[in-house]
Amino acid sequence: MTTPFSDDLSLTPPPGCPAHRLDTGEFDTGGLATHGPDTHGLGADGLGADGLRRLYGPEAEADPAGLYEKLRAEHGEVAPVLLHGDLPAWLILGHSANLTAMRTPSRFSRDSRRWTAFQQGLVTPDSPLMPVIAWQPLCVFADGEEHKRLRRAVTDSLNRFDRRGIRRYVTRFADQLIQDFGPTGQAELVARFAEHLPMLVMTQVVGMPEEYGPRLVDAARDLMKGTETAIASNDYVVATLRRLMERKRVAPGADLVSWLMQHSAGLTDDEVLEHLRVVLLAANETTVNLIADTLKLLLTDRRFRTHLSGGHMTLPDALDQVLWDSAPMSLVAGRWATGDTELGGQQIRAGDMLLLGLAAGNVDPAVRPDLSKPLYGNRSHLAFGGGPHECPGQDIGRAIAETSIDILLTRLPDIQLAIPEDELTWTSAWLSRHLVELPVRFTPRSKPKGEATATGGTAPTTPPTTTPATPDTPPAQPIAPPTGPAATATVPQQRRSWWSVLAGMFRH
Ligand code: HEM
Repeated sequence: MTTPFSDDLSLTPPPGCPAHRLDTGEFDTGGLATHGPDTHGLGADGLGADGLRRLYGPEAEADPAGLYEKLRAEHGEVAPVLLHGDLPAWLILGHSANLTAMRTPSRFSRDSRRWTAFQQGLVTPDSPLMPVIAWQPLCVFADGEEHKRLRRAVTDSLNRFDRRGIRRYVTRFADQLIQDFGPTGQAELVARFAEHLPMLVMTQVVGMPEEYGPRLVDAARDLMKGTETAIASNDYVVATLRRLMERKRVAPGADLVSWLMQHSAGLTDDEVLEHLRVVLLAANETTVNLIADTLKLLLTDRRFRTHLSGGHMTLPDALDQVLWDSAPMSLVAGRWATGDTELGGQQIRAGDMLLLGLAAGNVDPAVRPDLSKPLYGNRSHLAFGGGPHECPGQDIGRAIAETSIDILLTRLPDIQLAIPEDELTWTSAWLSRHLVELPVRFTPRSKPKGEATATGGTAPTTPPTTTPATPDTPPAQPIAPPTGPAATATVPQQRRSWWSVLAGMFRH
């Protein structure tokens, strides 16, 4: 989990572009020998020099899970692979080998500057790897005492939030989003629901004035998609955070910005800014995927719904099942070997890069011989990483996903998928996989008159645009003030209704 963008993200050429051709010949990368990178002519077989499999390109993106299984069959727990530019790395496929890499920072560092490919000048500034692995002074890339200092500031500040307060924000924003599309009786839940909630909630966590929420959501979505307006959107996020820090310096509040600035770890202004940006983006992408994948499972998997409606599993259990089966981040890039070592039977050389294969480790036959067996309540999945860098925001991510799904099912108890399941599609990149759309239909739900909406207006008829915003142009209409505990107080009564509807669906 790194700053998932850089100032030049939108300039990044696609894989295969001549801009990626490196002008070196064969070189020695220690444990991972490779030949002159050749990103041209990506064959349908997805193989590079020496027959190594590429983690990018058409084959990898069409079926990442299939690729992991081929690699497991060929190499076992740890497989040599090629990244963009045909740069070599090790992909960790075993559950236990992943945990070893995460929990042994003395052997597997987070400091990307150790990478042999960096030291040999093989990673070009325009490489698509750069936004994820270029070293920055962040907890994400730090080890040891420096990591502890930065991370303590983040975790202490996040832990000051009252979870019930987070749930109240989620309830309010989920209700507002549902009011946007409720009267139509149909919606596309990825764009109209899942993609909005985490960032809207995070604006409250960081202490952002509400009127910036909708624009920040648009800007964050835009820059993560790497469109041509990504730089402007990134500038908007940074400028907004800077202004927020200035405000909080004068008038601190009960929020992440104020607490990070006041923390005894003594973060510089730049460190505060960069950690805020990491937290915002780390929280968004992952939680969007968790919400979308859980809703998809709920709307399509008969067994899943039967278990939920029959009381054999709770919504938190359902989230765990999704975290096992569809880790919101398939890979974490990465760890770097501090010296020559061995992992999963492979000889790793100092400076080699290792990718944590979270999705692959979660389906390792050594821990899950029968993938159809439910794992409710079992939290030993790898979805949040592990060891000193384990996700510090997991409770918040879970609270956002769980509460928002609960509210959606409560408000729209007869919600159904509007297209056949086999028409659902995903897009994959090397780090994660996203459900493209989740169209649903339900009995139209009237919108209380004059109520504001989470997307910034009073009754939008179109989804929000990705037009880059500027910090000086907040949305025309502020969104509604908090509704307070009243919103959550009605949930138990209504929850019964969707549980009984789900149960009813399977009695026939
Ligand atoms: C479902 C939601 C989420 C998932 C699946 C997730 C997953 C992850 C993973 C896999 C890592 C890397 C761990 C490693 O390198 O070993 C990570 C790190 C991190 N996550 Fe999350 N995350 C989620 C939500 C959040 C939220 C809501 C926040 C903030 C409120 C957050 C903040 C961070 C930060 C700051 C790091 C870097 C920690 C470090 O390097 O010490 N995440 N997350």
